[in-house]
Amino acid sequence: MERFRIVGGRRLRGEVTISGAKNAALPCLAATLLTREPVTLSNLPRVRDILTMEKVLVTLGATCHHENGSTSVLAGDVSAFHAPYELVSTMRASILVLGPLLASRRRARVALPGGCAIGARPVDLHLAALARLGARLFLEHGDIVAEAPYGLHGADITFPRITVTGTENLLMAATLARGVTVLRNCAREPEVADLARMLVAMGARIQGIGSDTLEIHGVEGLAGVHHRVIPDRIEAGTYVIAAALAGDGVRVRACEPAHLTALLATLGEAGVAVEVGEGFLYVPPVTCLAATSVTTAEYPGFATDLQAQYLTLMTQAQGRCRIREAIFENRFQHVLELKRLGARIEVEGDCAIVEGPVTLDGTVVMASDLRASAALVLAGLVARGETILQRIYHLDRGYEAMEAKLNALGAEIHRFNPGPYR
Ligand code: EPZ
Repeated sequence: MERFRIVGGRRLRGEVTISGAKNAALPCLAATLLTREPVTLSNLPRVRDILTMEKVLVTLGATCHHENGSTSVLAGDVSAFHAPYELVSTMRASILVLGPLLASRRRARVALPGGCAIGARPVDLHLAALARLGARLFLEHGDIVAEAPYGLHGADITFPRITVTGTENLLMAATLARGVTVLRNCAREPEVADLARMLVAMGARIQGIGSDTLEIHGVEGLAGVHHRVIPDRIEAGTYVIAAALAGDGVRVRACEPAHLTALLATLGEAGVAVEVGEGFLYVPPVTCLAATSVTTAEYPGFATDLQAQYLTLMTQAQGRCRIREAIFENRFQHVLELKRLGARIEVEGDCAIVEGPVTLDGTVVMASDLRASAALVLAGLVARGETILQRIYHLDRGYEAMEAKLNALGAEIHRFNPGPYR
């Protein structure tokens, strides 16, 4: 399995370009199942999760064609409805085909996603809400079997808990349901709004985009579309944090600063005065970094997907701070690895208490999930000596060419394969 060798102490300067948002691209790819006409999606990041979702669509009878960073998908008029375990188990977001399949093909069979490193990740809220639209759902041999022989009908649904992909699944399903669907306590992540805008461009009737209440008037059918997905705010936030950690002036371009207000406010408190421009952020060299506590929250709060990266930054900040993970029950896998590098962190329940600044010493560490691996790359940038990061396949799921982008800024990261049996 491939690894990174990261040479610590290299300073970052210059400009990095942000790719399209993985978590916008995934629901938009699933939405191609809602029409028999061709859909072209552009600004898709070249990351493994996107390839996996395309494999799921092909398994469901679609054709996918790549050209110049765009993917054209033709779901066509097919009756396939089974998303198999061998694909779903590699990417939980495959659950996003459930709503579109029910809406367009009136049945679906999707392997029940297992848990992952950051938590149990149940999908009970998706299933309960789809049942309210008239679907009959049951589990069979580890698969979710869903049927709506007479089609879906509108309903007034309040999510008991905010769920990003749950909101996206129901939004897609409701576009073709008979009558009006009102979804309340919806996720307000920018990726949800991006999906909604794509659906409207396909002919869907959706009100309340960007708010926590979405009203959808079902239509007979949807047309094809060319949609460009939004920039990846988590990738952008990751490079902003990297620049605060090891930068001598870094410009993060092709991003949407308005999607990062919580991170920028927290960094401002910590002494990182990020300059906001039109489609870019500039991170000046940081002279004094102050420990600053934060609690993760649903958007527009501090993103849980930036918690691990921010925690790495706080190992270099002056003082003690408390980082509370309020979204997932087990999202501190990176802490044990950071402690191997010498970080002073104690986990108490849903909080990590970080003391800094601490000199980190390079050693061998292991990635456990997508954002934890990003946090360990950042730590390797400032650790003394060399850091070997194992299992970087986690990183390749959601970061396009991370080592190339960081090396272009001045980092020294080598990707290598230690050979068989290691
Ligand atoms: C999305 O996951 C993102 N993935 C995650 O990004 C992100 O961390 C998460 O939202 C929170 O922002 C994609 O968009 C593909 P949730 P999702 O449903 O939708 C509980 C990354 O690194 N819950 O909003 O699966 C759940 O366990 C990934 O790119 C239920 O209990 O997250 C969690 O505690 C990681 N029942 C909370 O709600 C359900 O049916 C929020 O989960 C659904 C969720």
